[in-house]
Amino acid sequence: MNTIAPALRVLLGGTVRPVRIAFQTDAVDKDALAISLPADADTPLAIVAAMKEALQGSDDVKAVSVEGLGVFRVSTSAGQGRVAGKIALVTGAAQGFGLEIAQSLAGEGATVVLADINVNGAKAAAGEICAAQGQGRAIGVAMNVTDAESVAAALDETVRAFGGLDLLISNAGVLKAQSVKTQPKKDFDFVTAVNYTGYFLCVQAAAPILAAGHLADANYTSDIIQINSKSGLVGSNRNGAYAGSKFGGIGLTQSFALELIEDGVKVNSICPGNFFDGPLWSDPENGLFVQYLRTGKIPGAKTLQDVRAGYEAKVPMKRGCMTADVMKAVYYLIDQQYETGQALPVTGGQVMLS
Ligand SMILES: NC(=O)c1ccc[n+]([C@@H]2O[C@H](COP(=O)([O-])OP(=O)(O)OC[C@H]3O[C@@H](n4cnc5c(N)ncnc54)[C@H](O)[C@@H]3O)[C@@H](O)[C@H]2O)c1
Repeated sequence: MNTIAPALRVLLGGTVRPVRIAFQTDAVDKDALAISLPADADTPLAIVAAMKEALQGSDDVKAVSVEGLGVFRVSTSAGQGRVAGKIALVTGAAQGFGLEIAQSLAGEGATVVLADINVNGAKAAAGEICAAQGQGRAIGVAMNVTDAESVAAALDETVRAFGGLDLLISNAGVLKAQSVKTQPKKDFDFVTAVNYTGYFLCVQAAAPILAAGHLADANYTSDIIQINSKSGLVGSNRNGAYAGSKFGGIGLTQSFALELIEDGVKVNSICPGNFFDGPLWSDPENGLFVQYLRTGKIPGAKTLQDVRAGYEAKVPMKRGCMTADVMKAVYYLIDQQYETGQALPVTGGQVMLS
């Protein structure tokens, strides 16, 4: 399923706007084009070659039934915009950057999968996107990025619903800031598991699905974008677990980028500055502004607004990063066909590359 559906999307819809495919095991459709794959088609390359041969000369295919597997039904998405027709999966999409990234992508024509450990939040957010953009434009799925089985199950659900993937946004991330002198190892491991290992697991599960489209047509390319941080580019005082996991993420991005060029997959990171309006900073109970007021991190600060002003003053452009700023980088990286393995800062001048 994870090879046939993504390849069919490109074989039937082309490289610019691949079709959507819904897969049903053991379904029967008498109008479907029936294909039986040869017994020796046991690699993705051989499977795609056999499908190309079987589809030759047939046009206006509405469904394909593959013997012993099920029916792949073809549809097109109504979305219009910069990412029209793309299928995007965003991890950590129940709130914060991930949610707003998913909303923006849907607004620009993508079909979106919101994946989160908070599955109720992801499903509720997907429901709102469908209400705004049309039925079938988003689903919410359960995914714990630290668990390979959970990641694989979420990718399977994506392929079953839409036929594949054109864009993975690896966004899920956590922060537990503490001094290296006192941080419990379990907190260090927690941050590393989500921010670093979680990125590896998501790419590992998504890469073969993205590669199948490129096997169908060498002109088809796809994207992996990791939401990193300015703390992936410079150290962060008393926040080593987070900064270390983000620095490591850039090492993964550079390495995956080199490896996946042969599959037509570009891999890049975006390094945003602080998103003061998001729940991580602004949550009235556990947000960083509340915590930093309590711990006196900004000397002399008496209110939440004082703490915020203290942090805004550190940014040369005197404001926090917003999702709209990040989205400009997301769309640039998708449009740009001649770049991979980069870490793109979006920090209002706070961090500059050397
Ligand atoms: N908030 C900022 O200031 C800021 C700045 C730069 C970069 N970032 C990065 O942006 C990304 C999103 O940050 P945010 O501030 O929106 O975070 P957030 O805390 O608001 O949201 C994170 C989301 O990830 C989900 N999540 C947590 N653990 C998960 C897991 N194991 N599997 C799947 N989902 C999981 C949470 O349920 C939540 O919905 C992170 O990678 C973060 O490092 C944030």
